[in-house]
Amino acid sequence: MMRVELTVNGQRRSDEVEPRLLLVHYLRETCGLRAANVGCDTTSCGACTVLFNGASVKSCTMLTVQAAGGEVTTAEGLAAADGELHPVQRAFRQEHGLQCGFCTPGMVMATVGLLAENPHPTETQVREGLEGNLCRCTGYHNIIRAVLAAAEAGPGEAVAGAAVGVSGASAAGAGRANGAGEPVRP
Ligand code: FES
Ligand code: FES
Repeated sequence: MMRVELTVNGQRRSDEVEPRLLLVHYLRETCGLRAANVGCDTTSCGACTVLFNGASVKSCTMLTVQAAGGEVTTAEGLAAADGELHPVQRAFRQEHGLQCGFCTPGMVMATVGLLAENPHPTETQVREGLEGNLCRCTGYHNIIRAVLAAAEAGPGEAVAGAAVGVSGASAAGAGRANGAGEPVRP
């Protein structure tokens, strides 16, 4: 076992974990945060996407010990303390960017990461930026509309609810690194 200290949704934590424990399992089982879903465990679906130091990453690709000293934000941490939804969450609701909801926390977190890097993406850039996140229900059209609506709301507003920085492009790239996003492309 190893002791790991990190910040999750603004709360400092110190936990004993097995060195092999994946971040997604730490979040779900140790922290009790169930928004990050496990859809594949093979870095293909993006359902487990969270923010790590402000960049979207697939939490099934990270060991918990790799997050030591860092800041993790899950979908549970996006809304304001009074329950006001994050602008990206609002955009997904307004544009009907979800059906069953399984992919949605990952889509939302990937979107927050995307807009932090590129506040004014084109539709093509949105499709490319979310290519590592799969959805079996929506056909993606409303998801793309939601992301563009969140971007239109303004870059400051779109990322304002994330208690994170806006750096770490390499981590974002690692989180999205797979070739499984073809359905999102135009
Ligand atoms: S569970 Fe599918 S990418 Fe992590
Ligand atoms: S809404 Fe069902 S998988 Fe995306």
